[in-house]
Amino acid sequence: MCPGSFDPVTNGHVDVIHRASALYDELVVAVLVNPGKAGFFPVEERMELLRESVAHLPNVTVDSFSGLLVDYCGAHEIPVIVKGLRAVSDFEYELQMAQMNRELAAIETLFVPTAPQVGHLSSSLVKQIATFGGDVSRLVPKVVNDRLRERAARGSTP
Ligand code: PNS
Repeated sequence: MCPGSFDPVTNGHVDVIHRASALYDELVVAVLVNPGKAGFFPVEERMELLRESVAHLPNVTVDSFSGLLVDYCGAHEIPVIVKGLRAVSDFEYELQMAQMNRELAAIETLFVPTAPQVGHLSSSLVKQIATFGGDVSRLVPKVVNDRLRERAARGSTP
């Protein structure tokens, strides 16, 4: 399981998904549905962009979930959560979530260090740059870049 907000998917996410998919027979990439937060892209659109971005990985499926990650994993008999770590600053929060998820449901978390070329990427920065007309074409899959340009042309703000 690779969970996240994916609002939108970046090349950093694709790097982690690609490497996680090589470690397991099956990998589920799941978008968190946060009922209290609309997000920049609706969940269905995030899933569509993810599906297109990982279409070259045959053992990866894309889904969404609402509520606790451990409940989704339990219902689908998923034993491992895979998370990417960009920097030490990611580690503190990720460690806390990994320990909490293990306490809640004895589920393990595997950390994958991101490739250095994508270690500076974040969905928030990508949205901000694209909104102000900056070039994010090297930071996100082509489908995402196209969609961000459409949104910027319409004047959407994150
Ligand atoms: O891409 P993000 O926003 O860093 O992903 C965070 C995510 C979705 C993995 C995390 O917020 C999550 O697991 N949310 C589901 C709710 C939950 O299980 N919370 C308890 C975590 S210990």
